Amino acid sequence: MADYILAIDQGTTSTRAIVFDHSGSIVSSGQKEHEQIFPRAGWVEHDPEEIWVNTREVVGLALTRANLTHNDIAAVGITNQRETAVVWDRKTGKPVYNAIVWQDTRTQKIADDLAALGGGNDRYKERVGLPLATYFSGPKIRWILDNVEGAREAAERGDLAFGNTDSWVVWNMTGGVDGGVHVTDVTNASRTMLMNIDSLTWNEEIAGEMGIPMSMLPEIRSSSEVYGKGRPGGMVPGVPIAGILGDQQAATFGQACFEVGTAKNTYGTGNFMLLNTGTEPVHSKNGLLTTVCYKIGDAPQVYALEGAIAVTGSLVQWLRDNLGLIKDAPEIEKLAATVEDNGGAYFVPAFSGLFAPYWRGDARGVLAGLTRYVNKGHIARAALEATAFQTREVLDAMNADSGVDLTELKVDGGMVQNELLMQFQADILGVPVVRPKVAETTALGAAYAAGIAVGFWQGEQDVIDNWAEDKRWTPDMDEEHRARTYRNWKKAVTKTFDWVD
Ligand code: G3P
Repeated sequence: MADYILAIDQGTTSTRAIVFDHSGSIVSSGQKEHEQIFPRAGWVEHDPEEIWVNTREVVGLALTRANLTHNDIAAVGITNQRETAVVWDRKTGKPVYNAIVWQDTRTQKIADDLAALGGGNDRYKERVGLPLATYFSGPKIRWILDNVEGAREAAERGDLAFGNTDSWVVWNMTGGVDGGVHVTDVTNASRTMLMNIDSLTWNEEIAGEMGIPMSMLPEIRSSSEVYGKGRPGGMVPGVPIAGILGDQQAATFGQACFEVGTAKNTYGTGNFMLLNTGTEPVHSKNGLLTTVCYKIGDAPQVYALEGAIAVTGSLVQWLRDNLGLIKDAPEIEKLAATVEDNGGAYFVPAFSGLFAPYWRGDARGVLAGLTRYVNKGHIARAALEATAFQTREVLDAMNADSGVDLTELKVDGGMVQNELLMQFQADILGVPVVRPKVAETTALGAAYAAGIAVGFWQGEQDVIDNWAEDKRWTPDMDEEHRARTYRNWKKAVTKTFDWVD
C-alpha cells in the first residue's frame, strides 16, 4: 500500500491539502484563500468554481512539495465548511448561483415563515436536531430555487444537484459531468435540516415544506468508506476517495474524542465545541445542536451535542480588513498585550445574529462599556476575550445538558497559537485548556476516516495512539474577577438583541 493519506480541507476562508504519514504527522501542505463575497449587509457568498480551481491547485502544491505523485497516496479524505449550499447543473457542471455561506442571514424570512406554520423555531427540532435558523442549508437551497431564474423548473426536471462543498468537490474529483458521484456523509447531511437525526435518511415531508425536490439531494453515506475514485486525467487518478466529515466533526475525530463525555473546541472563522454523546442522539434543553459526530462504515453512528459560535476568528479578520486596526492576524496578540485588561470594553460580534446558545437572528454586534480611557489595545483585547466568553457560554450549556462538568477542554484551530487568548480561555472557563501536537486536527480527522476505510489505519486505537499533548494552560484568575467580568459580558450580550425589524 502507498505510504500517505491526502486530506482536503475545504474551509470557509481557504482550501488546504495536507499529506499525512502513518504516524499522523504532516508531510507537506498547500493552502489558498478564496474570495469572500459580501453583496449586501448580512449576505456572504463563495464562488464554487474558484473553490474547485483552488482545490486542484493546493493538491498539486502538497504533492509536489513532498516530491510525491498520486501513486504515493493510499486514499483521500475530504472535510469541509458545513451548511454552505452549492446548487449546480448536472449536465453543464456549472453552479446556478454562488455558494450561500453558513454565515449568511438572507434566509431569515424563510425560516420565520416555516416557524409560523406551527411549532415556532423548534418546528423540526425533534426530527432533525436543529432549530430553525439561517445557519442551515435547507432554507438556503429554497432561496436559490425561489430567486434564480429557471432554477425551480430545472430542479423539478431533475437537472440540478445540491451539495455542501464536500459533495461539490467529490462530484468534480470523481468525474463531474462524466459520471461524478453525488454523495455526502451523515455529518454534513445532519446540518441541512433535511435529514432525520435517528434514521439518517432524508425527510421528504420537511423537504416538501421547504419546496426542495428530493432529486437534488445527494446520497447519504457513512463518513468512512470508498465513495469513488479520482477521475482519469485528474489530480489523483484512480485513488479512492474514502472519507468525508464536516470540518467540526473531523476535528472531533482527529482529537480522539471517542469516549462519551469527551469534547473539543475548534477556533476557526467561528468556534465549534462538540461533545461526544454516544450512539443515541441527545436533545438539548440549553441551545445546543444535536448532530451526527461520525459513522465509520457499518458501525453504529455516534452523536454529538454542538455549541456553534458564528464569529470568533472572523472578528480578527474584520478588525484587519474592515477597520485596518492590525496588518495581519497574529498582530492582534501584540496589540492586546499592550494593555493589562479590557479597560471595561466588551465586544459582542453578533455579525450573523447570535448562534449558540441564543439563536437570535435579530441580534447585531455591539461594542459596549466604552469610555475615553479605552484605546485600540483594549479593543483588541475585547475582541479576543469575545471568543473566550462565547466559549464559556457554550461550555455552561454543555455542562447543563449533560449534567456532568467537563474537567478539561481539548482545543485546536488557528487561534490556539494565541497564548494570551488560551490563558484567558482557561481563566474564564476555570478548567485546563489542552492543545495537541498536531493542531491541524480537522484535516487529520478526515485523513483518519479515509485511511481507516482502506486499511491504512486499523481503527480508532491508531488515532488514540498518535494523539499527543503539546501544551496545557491552567486557570489563574480569582473567582471574584472571573464572575464579575463574565457578568459584564452577559450584560453586553443583552444589548445586541432586537436590531432587525
Ligand atoms: O459550521 C460552519 C463550520 O463548519 C465552518 O468552519 O473552520 O471553516 O470556520 P470553519
